[in-house]
Amino acid sequence: MESVGETLHRFLILLVVAIPIALTVSLAGGWFLAGRALRPVDEITLAAQRIAAGDLSQRLSMTAAHDEIGRLAATFNNMIGRLDASFRQIRQFTSDASHELRTPLTVMKGETDLILRRSRPMEDYKSVLESNLEEIDRMTRIVDELLFLSRADTGEVKIEALPVALQALVEDVHRQATLLGHDRNIEVMLGTVMPVVVQGDDLRLRELLLNLVENAIKYSHPGGKVEITLLKDRREARLSVTDHGIGIAPGDHQKIFQRFFRTDMARTHTKKGTGLGLAICAWIADLHNGRVEVQSDLGQGSIFTVVLPLVHPSA
Ligand SMILES: Nc1ncnc2c1ncn2[C@@H]1O[C@H](COP(=O)(O)OP(=O)(O)OP(=O)(O)O)[C@@H](O)[C@H]1O
Ligand SMILES: [Mg+2]
Repeated sequence: MESVGETLHRFLILLVVAIPIALTVSLAGGWFLAGRALRPVDEITLAAQRIAAGDLSQRLSMTAAHDEIGRLAATFNNMIGRLDASFRQIRQFTSDASHELRTPLTVMKGETDLILRRSRPMEDYKSVLESNLEEIDRMTRIVDELLFLSRADTGEVKIEALPVALQALVEDVHRQATLLGHDRNIEVMLGTVMPVVVQGDDLRLRELLLNLVENAIKYSHPGGKVEITLLKDRREARLSVTDHGIGIAPGDHQKIFQRFFRTDMARTHTKKGTGLGLAICAWIADLHNGRVEVQSDLGQGSIFTVVLPLVHPSA
């Protein structure tokens, strides 16, 4: 019993010494490891604070780790990237919109100032008023289009979801376009037109097609030809407008759908236009679960194709 008691006693002393040491070591180790593991979280917090203060160029320096923190940092960077892009876009949009509206206002003010300086014959007043009316029309159009786009952004634009016979719509727009092309001696032709029914809003789809045909006429050379075709395959309707006009460089194919973007070629070709038409087209196509595709090369002409899902895709 004596030797057992002594062993127990030694064991007790060992425990009293070893437990605090083990505890201290594990506490220190835990503290160190937790600190290391949580440092990236701290970095994220600091970056979030800097971003909240308005600096959207901040990114987290990422380790290539594929752990939870690595994924969090990647998601965070991704989100900030998208926010940065959309803020940039809004700023650009506001400055473009103000610029577009300022130009007609400057013209109107200049002309009105000039004519009021002294008394003039009646015809002069009339011609200034006519020119002002043109500028007012232009501004009204810009404001209407902006209103449509901003309502579309906030989801306020409601569209019908009724069967639309595209064939009839194409024929109507063709008639309108023939008149439009007449002034510039541009022939608008109908190519293959298949009977196709899609689900959607007749008026909006008309607007979409008319915008594309207007562009094709506007960016054609006098005497040129524009062709409208309507094809379908098993799942989609493909409505194309082809022209042989000034064309678009491949680098600009995505940009032309941005609000107010106009290519330099287009600006030299004609003063008319604000660069909102295609943004509206893209919206209308999107509201119909479709898209607008473009094939074009500088100086070669363009093909714009509206792709819309069919109501009852044939098997
Ligand atoms: N058929 C085309 N051929 C060549 N360039 C085109 C064609 N259609 C569009 N573009 C280019 O895309 C740009 C944007 O077209 P969009 O229809 O949005 O604007 P716009 O025609 O200039 O003005 P508007 O708002 O009056 O339609 C044009 O300015 C032009 O540079
Ligand atoms: Mg246009």
